[in-house]
Amino acid sequence: MAAVVNVNGRIGSEREALISVLDHGFLYGEGVYEVVCAYGGRPFLFDRHMRRMRTSAQMIALTVPYSDAELTAQVEATIAAFCERPENAGVGNLYVRLLLTRGVGEITYDPASCPRPSLVIIVKALGAFSSELYDGGVKVVIVSVVRNHPCSINPLIKSNNLLNNALAFQEALRRGAFEGVMRNYRGELAELSTSNLFVVKDDRALTPPLDAGLLSGITRGFVCEICEAVGLSVEQRVLHDEDLFGADESFLTSTTKEVVPIVQVDERAIGNGKPGPWTKRLLEAYRRRVKELTGGTEVAGGD
Ligand code: PDD
Repeated sequence: MAAVVNVNGRIGSEREALISVLDHGFLYGEGVYEVVCAYGGRPFLFDRHMRRMRTSAQMIALTVPYSDAELTAQVEATIAAFCERPENAGVGNLYVRLLLTRGVGEITYDPASCPRPSLVIIVKALGAFSSELYDGGVKVVIVSVVRNHPCSINPLIKSNNLLNNALAFQEALRRGAFEGVMRNYRGELAELSTSNLFVVKDDRALTPPLDAGLLSGITRGFVCEICEAVGLSVEQRVLHDEDLFGADESFLTSTTKEVVPIVQVDERAIGNGKPGPWTKRLLEAYRRRVKELTGGTEVAGGD
């Protein structure tokens, strides 16, 4: 199923979507992005994603020349164009990727040569992960690629410059894992290459604090709210390898993956090697909450 793409307000098929090779997003990875799920056509937690995109843009001194209402209108128009295509009839949940780059300019790092940022919105079907993934959990590995130092490219910026993440993910794939856990420059656990990390120990959910150098995940924040709602206290705490190996349970969170149980780290089982009771409860509560907030649409993950 092909994507529908909006490039600076022009909506068409992915084959029609063109962006200049002189765009500094392409030349230098200069830009920010968001990935949003649209359940039954309705973008989920969109306001939170827009707030984070503005923060990311500010952190690279990129002006967002659109109001939230304008961005919402562009996203809705792109979703509508996707849904109008006969081949997309029956596609339920959607993957929406918004990218805002420095724009087209000269081959120089000087941003003055880029008069206007480029806005790209990609809409495609949200590929569902199998239920076995949620029922059985996944293996992750602690990768050798260190998460970017906050004083180089701050992981708080959801940046299009994703080489750090891509290299970590590729190492995880080579080692037969679903995801790679990244340490920060101090050797503490930070996050995974495309998701945030939680461990459960003694009926407490623990997740690394933002100053460990990680993305402030929208799902991480939402899951923390759900933890409180189901009676699991949450603490942001510095975590090390031993905390993960010795966890009762562990899970990862991301917009497209929701809550995925982690049952193995490197060659060691977490807990009894099966998704833990808190993790299952959180996933159920997460899906219930999505249903409530989106008017009853079933949730399906994908990347
Ligand atoms: N990834 N950490 C990193 C490095 C991420 O790339 C992501 C999201 C997350 C989770 O953030 P959120 O809950 O806001 O999705 C954490 C998205 C989904 C992606 O790049 O596709």
